Amino acid sequence: MWGVSKSNGHVNPKPPSESISILSRWMGIGDANTAGNVHGGVILHMCDEVAGLAAVRHSRRRVVTAGMDRMTFRHPVLVGELVTVKATVNAAWRSSMEVGVRVESENVRTGEVTHTSAAYLTMVALDDEGRPTEVPSVKPETADEMRRAREAQLRRDNRLAERERIQAERANG
Ligand SMILES: CC(C)(COP(=O)(O)OP(=O)(O)OC[C@H]1O[C@@H](n2cnc3c(N)ncnc32)[C@H](O)[C@@H]1OP(=O)(O)O)[C@@H](O)C(=O)NCCC(=O)NCCS
Repeated sequence: MWGVSKSNGHVNPKPPSESISILSRWMGIGDANTAGNVHGGVILHMCDEVAGLAAVRHSRRRVVTAGMDRMTFRHPVLVGELVTVKATVNAAWRSSMEVGVRVESENVRTGEVTHTSAAYLTMVALDDEGRPTEVPSVKPETADEMRRAREAQLRRDNRLAERERIQAERANG
């Protein structure tokens, strides 16, 4: 059966709560873009870092970023704000995991918190030889976790369908 093994797969599923990872950083002048707001790349870097942490916690393996599906910036982040990124593994397949990241910025003087961005990254676990290797499946426990797992599967299906269509298009010249 696909994805099943004695060491992990469906035999040893893990709830998303076991992978929750959080990083915070206070934004300074060095994080600014030419407009004076925080550079999007700074936020992307934090998302990649926290997604990697969540994926390692889920798989207990070395991981690499295979791709990022979507990154939305709903509001600008300002210099002087505290940025917190929170990541959870939403779903896992054979060697890849979708990690959802929520970005919040806090005005530390007023305490106002804004949900500024969301991102979905695919991380792949590697064995000691650097080859993709099996990871535990995800066992969603709450209604939100089940919804996130369903939506992660949709994004993966779309990604694979797009890849197949592009390959077919190229093969047809
Ligand atoms: C990600 C990587 C390990 C995949 O290797 P590969 O030879 O394509 O391996 P496979 O075809 O067996 O794919 C392994 C898994 O990666 C997934 N994958 C591969 N490319 C992907 C992409 N662009 N987006 C999302 N998932 C991807 C596959 O769906 C598969 O998932 P599954 O095992 O859960 O079904 C390889 O492309 C790589 O090392 N890329 C560079 C990663 C890196 O350095 N990142 C940091 C950038 S600075």
